[in-house]
Amino acid sequence: MKLIELTAPRLDAFRTASRPTPRPAHGEVLVRLRAASLNFLDIAVATGAYPGPVFPMVPVADGAGEIAELGTGVDGWSVGDRVVPHFMPDWQDGTLTPSLFGARRGVTRPGSLAEYVVVPAASLVSIPEHLSFAEASTLPIAATTAWRAVRSAKLGPHSTALLLGTGGVSIFALQFAKAHGARVIVTSSSDEKLERARGLGADLTINYRDIPDWNTEALRLTGGSGADLVLETGGTETFPRSVDAAALAGTVFVIGFLTGTQPTIDVLPIMEKELRIQGNNTGPVAALRAAAAAIARHRLVPVIDQSFAMDDVAEAYAHLAAGGRHFGKLVITID
Ligand SMILES: NC(=O)c1ccc[n+]([C@@H]2O[C@H](COP(=O)([O-])OP(=O)(O)OC[C@H]3O[C@@H](n4cnc5c(N)ncnc54)[C@H](OP(=O)(O)O)[C@@H]3O)[C@@H](O)[C@H]2O)c1
Repeated sequence: MKLIELTAPRLDAFRTASRPTPRPAHGEVLVRLRAASLNFLDIAVATGAYPGPVFPMVPVADGAGEIAELGTGVDGWSVGDRVVPHFMPDWQDGTLTPSLFGARRGVTRPGSLAEYVVVPAASLVSIPEHLSFAEASTLPIAATTAWRAVRSAKLGPHSTALLLGTGGVSIFALQFAKAHGARVIVTSSSDEKLERARGLGADLTINYRDIPDWNTEALRLTGGSGADLVLETGGTETFPRSVDAAALAGTVFVIGFLTGTQPTIDVLPIMEKELRIQGNNTGPVAALRAAAAAIARHRLVPVIDQSFAMDDVAEAYAHLAAGGRHFGKLVITID
């Protein structure tokens, strides 16, 4: 089978290779991958900023395809079923433990830049029938995380969500938050992207380049109340402002480190407003399944900004690594 290997933690260290197609063991399936989707995590892996991988390795956590072969002891799946294998295949549900965190596709397990991959059958989720392979490939990390954010904050028709940036997780969170009837504020460095966000249902928008005090603006836009959910993607530069922009008893859903991992924070507003500072580590297979079910129920369509051929993988990585060039997701087709 054809695959792409990352031979070192460098953004240009890709090589095309041919390897024997793996065979599924007991409880496993062989998946013919059709599309992969990039996350910021893949850049962190390819720049040595994320611990775990041993090089050379098959990169890219997220992908989608169809079952090509069943191992022994696999029930409930058939050859030809359209599936997404989850990023963290051993974490089925419940609380994360160190042993469940060990296996991560595209980090410590083979990723999605290959024609075939063997995964545990228990890590598979069916693709909603209205989605293409490319659209489905965006689900494991971004949709699962966005789904957990929206559910964690218990968003409803009287809630406000403040979503930082227009990357993969934020755009899924926009779609899920609107499906829950919430009012949504999106921030971006680009007016054009904010226009696109409004097209997807964003009620209010803030250009954080033009308005560096976007937290104050978010408070103003909510009549001083703040947001019930703040999707905290930025880390160092954004975390204190996210705390400021959160409503009484609001949830700051901490997922990202786009500007670093070490903010300086005043703890007083966290106490005074009784905030929930909720960390998140993607989520279990059950959360991906719930996110996919919501996508099917609401006929949501993941937003793909651009698709790249498998042979143009370095270009795709460079595009994402440049930061701020995309809206939603970038996809790589597996041919
Ligand atoms: N912990 C978890 O469970 C989990 C899961 C998924 C992702 N993450 C993390 O969450 C973050 C976002 O992931 P992603 O995949 O959605 O990333 P992405 O697709 O690369 O999107 C990043 C977007 O964030 C915005 N941004 C950059 N700097 C910003 C800043 N200073 N203030 C506000 N927005 C800023 C930009 O939006 P504009 O171009 O619109 O300005 C950029 O396009 C990453 O750090 C990723 O590693 C964590």
